[in-house]
Amino acid sequence: MQITTSAAPWWQHSVCYEIYVRSFADGNGDGVGDLVGIEQRLPYLADLGVDSVWLTPFYPSPQHDHGYDVADYRDVDPLFGTLADFDAMLATAHDLGIRVIVDVVPNHTSSEHPWFHEALAAAPGSPARDRYVFRDGTGRNGERPPNNWVSVFGGPAWTRVPDGQWYLHLFDSQQPDLNWWNDEVHAELDDVLRFWLDRGVDGFRVDVAHGLYKQPDLVPRKRGDRLPHPMWDQPEVHEVYRRWRKLLDSYDGDRMAVAEACAGTPEAMARYIRPDELQQTFNFTWLEAPWSAAAFRKVVVDTFASVGLVGGTPTWVLSNHDVVRESTRYGGGPAGVARAKAAALTMLALPGSSYLYQGEELGLEQVDVPPHLRQDPAYHRGAEPEGRDGCRVPMPWSGDTAPYGFGTGEPWLPMPDDWAGLTVEAQQADEHSTLQFFRRALRLRREVTVGLPDQVQLLDSAPGTFAFRRGDLVCVVSCGSRTARLPDVAGELLLASGDGVADGRIAPDTAAWFRAR
Ligand code: NOJ
Repeated sequence: MQITTSAAPWWQHSVCYEIYVRSFADGNGDGVGDLVGIEQRLPYLADLGVDSVWLTPFYPSPQHDHGYDVADYRDVDPLFGTLADFDAMLATAHDLGIRVIVDVVPNHTSSEHPWFHEALAAAPGSPARDRYVFRDGTGRNGERPPNNWVSVFGGPAWTRVPDGQWYLHLFDSQQPDLNWWNDEVHAELDDVLRFWLDRGVDGFRVDVAHGLYKQPDLVPRKRGDRLPHPMWDQPEVHEVYRRWRKLLDSYDGDRMAVAEACAGTPEAMARYIRPDELQQTFNFTWLEAPWSAAAFRKVVVDTFASVGLVGGTPTWVLSNHDVVRESTRYGGGPAGVARAKAAALTMLALPGSSYLYQGEELGLEQVDVPPHLRQDPAYHRGAEPEGRDGCRVPMPWSGDTAPYGFGTGEPWLPMPDDWAGLTVEAQQADEHSTLQFFRRALRLRREVTVGLPDQVQLLDSAPGTFAFRRGDLVCVVSCGSRTARLPDVAGELLLASGDGVADGRIAPDTAAWFRAR
C-alpha cells in the first residue's frame, strides 16, 4: 500500500475520476467495459495523476438504467466480472496509490430485486409490500394513480400491479422506490455499506441522496409548487447520513461518502455536509453554468457561501455521465474543447475536491447517438430529448478505427469514425494534446497547491475575465471575445490551457496559473 495518512483527510483536496464502468475498458471482448478492463488501465490513471476513482454501479442488475437498478447489492454482475475481479482491481488501485469509491443506490432497487419479487407475490398491506411504496389507486375502481407525482424520467411515477395496487418509482418503472419509513430498509442498506467497507473500499457516492424519504401522506403536487417538496430532501434523510457517518468513522482510513443531493438551495445543499453527516456533496452549480466569467465568479462565490455555512470543503464538477459533455455545452469544436480545458484548469486551482469524468481528459465531445440505438430510459420515457447516451460512448484507447482499443468486441454504443486523433495512444504521443495538458495540470496541482489556504481571494480583472488568488497561486480565466489584460499580481506563468498568454495579456477561451508577484 502506497497510501499514507496525512493530517488532512485524503478526500478533502482530491481529484476523483469517475469511471462509467460499462464504457471505460472492456477486458473480455463482449463490447461492455468491466472490472478486469479497469484494472488493466489503472496505471494510465496513476500516470494521469488522479487521487481516486468513483465506479458507477457494477452490481447484478437487468441494466435498465445501466446499473442504477440494483438486483443484488452484494455481488458483481457477470457482465462486469466477479467479486474476485473487484478485489483484484481494488488491490491494484491501492498499490498504485489510488482510492476507490463505489456507488450505493439507496433510493430504489431494481424490479428484479428479490424484495420486489416478494412484494409482488405478497398481499396488499403485507410486510413485503411495506419495503416499497405501494398504495391503492384513486378513482372509482382505483384505476387512477394514488397522486399526480411524475417520474424524473418522464411519465407518471406510479405503475399498477395485477391486483390493482400501485407502486411508486421516481425514476423508471423498473426502479421501484424503497420505503425509508421501514426499519428493515435501514438495516439492509447499512449492511450493504459494511459489506463494501469490509472489502476495503474508501467510500461511496450516494445516488439520489436527497431522495429516500417521501412524505407518507403523499400529497399531490400543485402547479408551480416550490420546495419543500414532498418527495425530495425530507428532514428525516439527515438521520440516515448521521448514522452512515458513524459507520464510516468506525472504519480506519478516512472512509468517506459524497452525496448526489440535488437540494434546491445552498442552505439545503450544505445540510448534507454538516460535520456529523457526509463528507462531501456534489456541487452541480458549475456544471449548470454557461461559459461566462460572471457565471463562473458567481459559482465560486455561492459555493463558498454554501459550504461556509457548515465549515465544509467544496467539490467541483464540470461533467458526469448524466449531462452533455462540457466541450459541447461550451459551443463544441476546437473552441468548445479550449473552453473545457480552461474551465478545468480554473476548477483545479480551487480548494476542495475536483471530480473529472472519463474522457474529459481527452477533450471528448458529446456524440450524436442514432435514436434507434439510444438506451437511456430517460430518453425512452421522454424526459431527455436526446438521452444521456451521447456522453457514455466508450473510451477510445488506441488505433485508427472503432473500437479504438476499448476491447475486441463490438462496443455497446457505436464509436465515432473520427476519433483516431483522440485516443489515449495518439494523445500520449502529442505534447500539445488535451491529455498531456491534463497530465501537466494534475501534476502541477500536486506540486503547487499543497498547503495553500482553503479560501480564495477574488481579484479585480478585465471585462470578460474571472481571476482569483489562493495563497501565491493566481488563476485567471478569459471567457470574453478579445485578448484581455492580466491582473498585475499575475507573475511567473506556471501553466496555461492554450497558447495565448503573453505580454501581460490572455487570449479568449484560455485559463492560466501564475505565481503571485
Ligand atoms: C443518478 C444517476 O447518476 C443516474 O444515472 C441515474 O439514472 C439516477 N440517479 C437514478 O438512479
